[in-house]
Amino acid sequence: MASIYARSTAAVTVRPARPGDVAAIRAIRNHAIEHSTALWTRTLQTPDQAVTWLAAHLERGSAFVAEVDAEVAGFAAYGPWRELDGYRHTVENSVYVREDRHGLGIGSALLTALVTAAREAGHHVMIAGIEAGNTPSIRLHERFGFQVAGTLPEVGTKFGRWLDLTLMRLPLA
Ligand SMILES: CC(C)(COP(=O)(O)OP(=O)(O)OC[C@H]1O[C@@H](n2cnc3c(N)ncnc32)[C@H](O)[C@@H]1OP(=O)(O)O)[C@@H](O)C(=O)NCCC(=O)NCCS
Repeated sequence: MASIYARSTAAVTVRPARPGDVAAIRAIRNHAIEHSTALWTRTLQTPDQAVTWLAAHLERGSAFVAEVDAEVAGFAAYGPWRELDGYRHTVENSVYVREDRHGLGIGSALLTALVTAAREAGHHVMIAGIEAGNTPSIRLHERFGFQVAGTLPEVGTKFGRWLDLTLMRLPLA
């Protein structure tokens, strides 16, 4: 399944991720680790970890990439929100767009594909855990119908300051 989503100047193709996307996905993730509070770690993902991460997603069809000009410009994925089996109908998402491609509709195109796939897989709720100051991500999720369920103050830290976690929830069924 591939979809075309055109907005602004970018023609975006979203398709399921493939093994060959692993380096591009890792580069986008590691850039976010180094430069932002989107991921609350300063430890970069190794090539082996990236392969393991992608393999789990490929098995359940829960990772997508967006291509612009035949290059991977972003990715989105969902996975279990929590490990205990009682949480099995709830998934957590992640959406990352290359910094030089922000604001072109790529995050929206990825989230459209991701929510559709999670619905088709029969999941019940999608959660987004977002650093409370990440306005672009909170707005993006609001536009898709996610609602803020609450904010947990000072549950994380990075770059020498406390971070608050906003949990957003989208019913899928
Ligand atoms: C959050 C992110 C995925 C959005 O992707 P994007 O391709 O830039 O978003 P889009 O162009 O599809 O914009 C979709 C909506 O997001 C919101 N948005 C995007 N950029 C924004 C900005 N700089 N300020 C405020 N809202 C913004 C808007 O509501 C926008 O819709 P609108 O333009 O119609 O108002 C992207 O900024 C990103 O990858 N950020 C770094 C990683 C990250 O924070 N990931 C999320 C972790 S929870």
